[in-house]
Amino acid sequence: MTAETDERLEPAQLRTLFLFESLDDEKLGYVHEHGRVKRLPADADIFVEGDPARCFYVLLDGTVSLTRLVHGDRIEISRSSQRGAYGGATQSYLNEQRVENYLHSMRAVTDVTLFVLPAEVISTAMRRWFPMAMHLLDGLFLGMRTTENLVNQRERLLALGSLSAGLTHELNNPAAAAVRATAVLRDRVSGMRHKLAMIADGRLDGERLHRLVEFQEAAVKQAANAPTRSPLETSDAEDTLADWLDEHDITGGWDLAPILTAGGIDGTWLDRVADTVSQDDLEPAIRWLAYTVETELLMGEIDDALHRITGLVGAAKQYSQLDRAPYQTADVHDLLDATLAMFSAKIGPDVRVVREYDRSLPAIPVYAGELNQVWTNLIDNALYAIGETGVLTVRTGQEEERVVVEIVDTGPGIPADVRSRIFEPFFTTKPIGEGTGLGLEISYRIVVNKHHGDLAVESEPGRTVFRVCLPISGR
Ligand SMILES: Nc1ncnc2c1ncn2[C@@H]1O[C@H](COP(=O)(O)OP(=O)(O)OP(=O)(O)O)[C@@H](O)[C@H]1O
Ligand SMILES: [Mg+2]
Repeated sequence: MTAETDERLEPAQLRTLFLFESLDDEKLGYVHEHGRVKRLPADADIFVEGDPARCFYVLLDGTVSLTRLVHGDRIEISRSSQRGAYGGATQSYLNEQRVENYLHSMRAVTDVTLFVLPAEVISTAMRRWFPMAMHLLDGLFLGMRTTENLVNQRERLLALGSLSAGLTHELNNPAAAAVRATAVLRDRVSGMRHKLAMIADGRLDGERLHRLVEFQEAAVKQAANAPTRSPLETSDAEDTLADWLDEHDITGGWDLAPILTAGGIDGTWLDRVADTVSQDDLEPAIRWLAYTVETELLMGEIDDALHRITGLVGAAKQYSQLDRAPYQTADVHDLLDATLAMFSAKIGPDVRVVREYDRSLPAIPVYAGELNQVWTNLIDNALYAIGETGVLTVRTGQEEERVVVEIVDTGPGIPADVRSRIFEPFFTTKPIGEGTGLGLEISYRIVVNKHHGDLAVESEPGRTVFRVCLPISGR
């Protein structure tokens, strides 16, 4: 099939190609001597990305398509039927010693005729003929590669940075709460030991002590089911209880009332205690019960804090998809919730998050970790647009064979002249240093190329909707 011919191009013909038009006769002679004409049928691979870059190709006739693999998809970068268009070992001269690999693939769209030069011929010629240009190009390419690496790295770091900053903040609150509660708990437990010793100091008979222990059990239950009260109701209940304590000559009622109230204990409850113990023993008994209630509440707090920590770690795991298969069946709501959890520290007090989920949606096969990137980028943009005050709506639904996710914000909207450019790489309206302009470009690639879905935007002042459609049947 490959038809490398012995056919050469005459210097005069070579001069009609813009690449060679200004070469003098000697140089043209060199190109003439080393180059050959090659003909390939439609659909043939001319060169394949990743293979050793051995040849440099110039298009003489026909149409070629240049593609690159992005996340496993073949993306067409350009298509050309321009005579003189070139490709292949375009950077071979940079590295005399080492054969570079092709950075792209080139395919014949129609039958094509090409002019082919071996990479080492180009390399030798360039170094001999244009030594200074070589040095400049070396520097240029080095700079470009460094920049590209930096951008890639920075992007990953940014995602990781904002994720871990948010997460650290979120984890810190419950962790600090648990530490604080544990310290108080330790103190209260030791207080309880002392009080018990006082009560049991021979002044209570076995039966009364037994009744008291029953009260303690009841207090524990009471604390677990304490009614939720408004601040006003709470302070009323505390006042009433403080009065009761005063009437019964218990000192420090202001100190005990809030604790007992939080545990759901009121005057009627304490009346029963007063009936059981003598007036002398009443205060130690009530203090002892207060310790019981307080330790119970503290343990509840610790439990809550640990649950929040476990929940966050779960969300982080779900978000990062660290221990999951890259391609799996997932419920988009789990992914959206995990992503929103990652943002919770970044969402201001005056920004409301509304979830309008259609829970009847089927789980769909997706690249879950990458979809989380998409939600992250869209939610990040929405929150930026909303600023201090507004509403972020995350809506899901189904349309025919597709799951639809909408991220809606109440920000200022996207001006018409900006809208046509937002999916371009590096396009950003954010101040220098704040945005990379890659968020939407990456999202588009993930949704459209990787999931064969669709990413569209609709915007007017006060309402911007980014709409992601994903096929239910997967790839
Ligand atoms: N919800 C939105 N409301 C208004 N403008 C938006 C919204 N989403 C995107 N844009 C516009 O699209 C541009 C490109 O968005 P993209 O996410 O690609 O990059 P960026 O947000 O500027 O940078 P980065 O994502 O790296 O932080 C933004 O700079 C902004 O002008
Ligand atoms: Mg963005």
